[in-house]
Amino acid sequence: MKIIKATNYDEMSKKAASIIAAQVVLKPNCVLGLATGSTPLGTYKKLVEWHNSIDLDFSNVVTFNLDEYVGLDPNHEQSYRYYMNNNLFNMINIKMENTHVPNGMAPNIEEECANYDKMISDFGGIDLQLLGIGHNGHIGFNEPGEYFQKGTHCVTLSEKTINANSRFFESIDMVPRKAITMGMLAIMQAKKIVMIASGEDKKEILGKALFGPITPRVPASILQIHPDLTVITTISL
Ligand code: GLP
Repeated sequence: MKIIKATNYDEMSKKAASIIAAQVVLKPNCVLGLATGSTPLGTYKKLVEWHNSIDLDFSNVVTFNLDEYVGLDPNHEQSYRYYMNNNLFNMINIKMENTHVPNGMAPNIEEECANYDKMISDFGGIDLQLLGIGHNGHIGFNEPGEYFQKGTHCVTLSEKTINANSRFFESIDMVPRKAITMGMLAIMQAKKIVMIASGEDKKEILGKALFGPITPRVPASILQIHPDLTVITTISL
């Protein structure tokens, strides 16, 4: 594991974006695993900036997002498809058909999950996975539990996650209770993982995830055994 300390959010974002940009330059048809939440916003902003200023070329890049709320239409402002389109995809030259976000409106969620895993493996797996971390140690929407879930699956969100994400919704009642999330297998099979975390409120959970016991009670702790994990953080650990 490599830990890179950033002095502030902008520096963290720039470093994460540099690694993603390097990946895109080295392998123009790479498969990127992407995350949502407030943490990656600065990273995406940098990538858009470099697309505009130095022609960083996404025309052959393929992306798979980690998760999506069940029941939110892709045009809903809080859906992760809407977030990705508005913060990255619409601003770069990626082909929309090369971008994948689980469909939270799929009539058959189980089938949607199985198809998502099949598509990831048909593309040869993820080259670089960008991750944030939830306050309870979740990655994607892999919530703390009794065991690590391997495949893409439907999850019931924990109270902690619903509370944390309610800041984006008009009221807590509007936060969906279920989501589709990529499982641990596709994440752990990513050739390279970059995790970003900022804010002192994440200090305790980041410490547990990186240095505590490897346990499904702290889902991100499994990353300790990934052969190529880079953590970029403003937090002093
Ligand atoms: C969300 C997402 C995660 C994200 C996390 C942290 O619920 N499903 O992929 O990493 O919560 O979000 P933030 O970056 O806003 O703290």
